[in-house]
Amino acid sequence: MTKKRVVLLGAPGAGKGTQARRLVERLDVPHVSTGDMLREAVAKRTPIGLEAKACMDRGELVPDEVVIGVAEERLARPDAEKGFILDGFPRTLVQARALDALLARLGRPLECCLALRIDEAEVTRRLLKRAELEGRSDDNAETIRKRLRVHEKQTAPLVDYYRDQGILAEVDAVGSVDAIADRIEGVLGS
Ligand code: AP5
Repeated sequence: MTKKRVVLLGAPGAGKGTQARRLVERLDVPHVSTGDMLREAVAKRTPIGLEAKACMDRGELVPDEVVIGVAEERLARPDAEKGFILDGFPRTLVQARALDALLARLGRPLECCLALRIDEAEVTRRLLKRAELEGRSDDNAETIRKRLRVHEKQTAPLVDYYRDQGILAEVDAVGSVDAIADRIEGVLGS
């Protein structure tokens, strides 16, 4: 059986969003990206957006309680009953524990954490290229460095958290988008 309740973990630029978009089409489950939801809130100038913007522009994490609220509201919607691809959430141990508690209450535990393995030089190259093409406000050399440090300190420990739960799968995230999608399909089942 294909695993459909999945967390994508990986450094900024590792390809979480790219692979999540592939997966949601294939598995017909919602793409839950806290980064996308926060950027939408910033664009609409909602209270959450106003609170999040400064943190995002500095390359820091938005406070746990804000992001947990956003993710919980999305995961409680009916379309997430059939599964979900979480992209960029959880990013701290506090968020991971809150997610586990929510999914336990819903009776739908996580089935897999896919950790995308990639080195800093490659993700920096990808993000600087995206900066030229799209101009995302946090894609500049200084903020990318900060995001990578924040990832290493606050998010990378989640690899051990999910390994201890027995649901971790590490995937080489270097190569073509298709090749990586094939590796992921091999892990989740088709
Ligand atoms: P978020 O939007 O989650 O950004 P991120 O983690 O920095 O990730 P990116 O979107 O930059 O990279 P990605 O891994 O999705 O790669 P992508 O597929 O885009 O978060 C932004 C901010 O929001 C955070 O810094 C924080 O402030 C806040 N936030 C969000 N969630 C939060 C949370 N849970 N808690 C607290 N704060 C939170 O690919 C990158 C580029 O590479 C693209 O141009 C793509 O086309 C290209 N690419 C992809 N795959 C390949 C490939 N195989 N080969 C070559 N190029 C590729």
